[in-house]
Amino acid sequence: MRLVRMIANLGYGSRREVAMMFREGRVTDADGEVLYADDKREHAEIRLDGEPLDPPQGLCLVLNKPAGVTCSTRDTGRLVHELLPERFALRNPKLSTVGRLDRETTGLLLLTDDGALLHRIISPRSRIAKVYEAELAEDLRGDEVGTFASGNLMLESEQTPLLPAELEALAPRKARLTLHEGRYHQARRMFAAVGNHVLHLHRVAIGGLTLDGLEEGAWRTLDPGGIQRVFAAETEQE
Ligand code: URA
Repeated sequence: MRLVRMIANLGYGSRREVAMMFREGRVTDADGEVLYADDKREHAEIRLDGEPLDPPQGLCLVLNKPAGVTCSTRDTGRLVHELLPERFALRNPKLSTVGRLDRETTGLLLLTDDGALLHRIISPRSRIAKVYEAELAEDLRGDEVGTFASGNLMLESEQTPLLPAELEALAPRKARLTLHEGRYHQARRMFAAVGNHVLHLHRVAIGGLTLDGLEEGAWRTLDPGGIQRVFAAETEQE
C-alpha cells in the first residue's frame, strides 16, 4: 500500500493533506531520514513528526465507558468516540464498538476495526460470557437465580426464551449477572421481568477480559494476548 494511503487510512488527514506532510518532510523513518510518498516501508518503521504511527488495521481497544456516553457514531450528546483521539474517528476501516452498552451503563467496552473479530464476539452463536454488576432498587428475593438459570425466561416482545444466565447475589440489592447472549437492554429487562429495577449497571468482564484497573473514561489497546482472553472460556454452539 502506498504510504500516503496507509497514513490517510489511519485518520491523520485526507490523502491530499498527507501528501503535503510528505512534501513538508514530516514523514521519516526511525532514523529521521525523510521519506517520500512512493517509498516502501513497513508501518513500524514510519514516524510522523518523529512519533510512531497509531496501530495499523487490526486495532482492538478496551475502554471503561462512563455513564452518559452513547455507543454510536451519530447521536445527540456525548459519544464514546469522543473519549478517543479525534483521528481515530477518521480511520478506514472504521473503528466500531463491539456490541453496545446503554447510555447509562458503565464499564468494559471493546472497539475494533477488525470485522471478523467483531463478528466472532457478537455472533448469536458465540456464547462468550458478559459479566455485569447491577445495583437494584429492591432486595433480591432469592428465586431470581433459578428463574434466570432456567432457560425459560421469555422477555416481552421476544420470540425465544433467554439462554440460561448466572446470577450471584453480592448484597441484598447488588448482584453479578453473567449473560451468554446480547439482547436489547437484556439485563435491565431481566430484572424488570422479576419485579425489580436496575439503578446502575456496570460491565466488569467479557470472557476472561476484565478492566484490570483501567480508570473510568480511559482506554488501552489490546495486544493479541488480551484479545485471546476474551475467548478464554468460549463455548460455541454447533
Ligand atoms: N443489558 C442492559 O440492559 N444494558 C446494557 O447496557 C447491557 C446489557
